[in-house]
Amino acid sequence: MFSKIARLATRDVRYLEAGSGRPILFLHAFPLSADQWLPQLAQLPPGWRGVAPDLRGLGGSDVGLTEDGRVTIDTYASDALELMAHVEMPQAVVCGLSMGGYVAFAMLRQAPQRVTGLVLADTKASADTTEGRAGRDRMLALVAAEGSAAVAADMLPKLLGETTRREQPDLVDVVRRTIEGNKADGIAAAVAAMRDRPDSTDLLGTLASPTLIVVGEEDRVTGPAEAAAMHSAIAGATMRTVARAGHLSNLENPKAFNAVLTSWLMETPALQVRPSPA
Ligand code: MLT
Repeated sequence: MFSKIARLATRDVRYLEAGSGRPILFLHAFPLSADQWLPQLAQLPPGWRGVAPDLRGLGGSDVGLTEDGRVTIDTYASDALELMAHVEMPQAVVCGLSMGGYVAFAMLRQAPQRVTGLVLADTKASADTTEGRAGRDRMLALVAAEGSAAVAADMLPKLLGETTRREQPDLVDVVRRTIEGNKADGIAAAVAAMRDRPDSTDLLGTLASPTLIVVGEEDRVTGPAEAAAMHSAIAGATMRTVARAGHLSNLENPKAFNAVLTSWLMETPALQVRPSPA
């Protein structure tokens, strides 16, 4: 596994890479970094190549400047497509967890031909409600006043399931440190991007690529009900629940998450064909 820096035209992007063969792009949750995907990159099924970027402004990726000075979910999607081109990954299975899923939907709007398969983990298609948007504004005020440590304290009980908080204190610390390692401006940009994201529900009925929906059984942010709603709206989708895991199901129960991901990647006929070159 490698941690690399892509020097793109306007900014540097840090990403992790492992394996070789068929491509899968991993998009992390808010307010984490690509390190969230270490357990998956370490256990990729044979014949698969994984790339996981730090989204703009998070982890080791620069916030950079956008043309209009705003970072949106669409910005993250075009960033991901730009990085894919840079690493010679014209197409990929896109695996997004929570905010990563919101970005995956935006990639599907921008360039559906580049998404060969979709993993929607602990995410939802709907936009923020009025109450949700007000919560984002409170988070913006919190990060401006008190910085990343306050965001970590606020988010940890939401991100991690009850079982993890009780039985995996080391993981709680790892997630806390990841959040605290992020800069306040990158966190604020992500909060505003999520608050203003469009509803993606209409997209669900149009999805043509194989789709896997994964959800932690203790997820209280985007839980089993949201996953079931996406499952019934996406023709042919597969849905799996990860036991003893909350919102960060891939980190909280990596063994179960990896088993689900590996069997879907290895057993879905449409994913056994190498994607065509650019
Ligand atoms: C995430 O995990 O990416 C966020 O909690 C999602 C959200 O707040 O909508």
